[in-house]
Amino acid sequence: MSCFDIQLFRRQFPFFTEQSNWVYLDNAATMQKPQQVLDAIAKFYAKDNSNVHRGAHSLSQQATQSFEDARTSIAQYINASLPEEVIFCSGATAALNQIAFGLMHTVLQPGDRILLTQLEHHANIVPWQLHCQRHGVIIDVVPLTAENKIDLEAYKQLLLLKPKVVSFCHISNVLGHIQPAMEMIALAKAEDAITVIDGAQGIVHEQPNMQLLDCDFYVFSGHKLYGPTGIGVLYGKYKQLQQLTPIFAGGEMIDQVSFASTSFNQLPFRLEAGTPNIAGAIGLATAIKWLQNVNQNEIKQHKLLLTQHLHCGLARIQGIDILSSPIHNAGIVTFNVVGEHHSDVAELLNQQKIAVRAGQHCAMPLFSYLQQRGAVRCSLAAYNTFEDVNQCLFALEQAMEILTA
Ligand code: ALA
Repeated sequence: MSCFDIQLFRRQFPFFTEQSNWVYLDNAATMQKPQQVLDAIAKFYAKDNSNVHRGAHSLSQQATQSFEDARTSIAQYINASLPEEVIFCSGATAALNQIAFGLMHTVLQPGDRILLTQLEHHANIVPWQLHCQRHGVIIDVVPLTAENKIDLEAYKQLLLLKPKVVSFCHISNVLGHIQPAMEMIALAKAEDAITVIDGAQGIVHEQPNMQLLDCDFYVFSGHKLYGPTGIGVLYGKYKQLQQLTPIFAGGEMIDQVSFASTSFNQLPFRLEAGTPNIAGAIGLATAIKWLQNVNQNEIKQHKLLLTQHLHCGLARIQGIDILSSPIHNAGIVTFNVVGEHHSDVAELLNQQKIAVRAGQHCAMPLFSYLQQRGAVRCSLAAYNTFEDVNQCLFALEQAMEILTA
């Protein structure tokens, strides 16, 4: 029996007081922020604002301390070996671009292979593709099973082609299915591949442990984890980060600069050119500390029940084609109304103040594979209630009545 007090939890988010007539089911796009995170960001700008690693004055030293403390807190949360293994960037997209660019200039040679999966977000396809075309690197794609899960047998076969890099999402942002990441990483490592995990949705579902996962890189965005936008993390094992050519160059990432040549700073600074998002890093660390005071198992259980409730409710409505599955699902429910355009359905939900996402969800290759033009996505979070789900289902039935009238 769960003792999760949903109302108490929800009250920590000012959004639900400010927008009390909305049902917010677009959490895979971005999550609402607890008051503690908003306070930490406001406090930094109101009282502590200063640049980091640069100033001769105490204010800068204090800002530097807070920024580096944020790095340490995040490193501890994901169980990295060292704080220097946490590189701040603007989000998962920036992190994946840095990895693709960085490896392409050092590790990858023409004719090398990269293994992706059919489930990937564009951020884990296009950065590789851009560089592969230029450097003669080949992309292979792991297909899905009939249940739209990663086909592990096909994965094992493709690993025999000896990809240099294997990169996949821990949780699909379209289907919500939780991948067997640990097993997939172990299989890839057995073939000496560098492993990259897109944890944008995964970190929301469970606290990742870098020592257990043992991947080479893991990336995520702060704003999907109760933190602010514009901040994210590129985690990498120290020796792997050392192999990356920086995608951005400028101040702070250098050691010596002359017009003849430049030598570079050590990690993490070598991969953090320019003034970082200081308030963002502090906000994200605050979100993580706040999250550590919440019982993760209770949240997971609550989300699981909500996900099942939504799937069951949709299954009871005639004319709904559900693309996601309630089994091993992290709270992402995707569907279509048969014969209707996903945007029309989403707009009719919007008119009833139900916030969902519609379209191809930055995963066009997956939608081509599924032979769908797009879909409506409801993504659930721990602060959603059964009442939210019921209101969404009711609004959907109203929308369908209008569409079929
Ligand atoms: N990648 C985010 C999503 O799936 C924006 O909605």
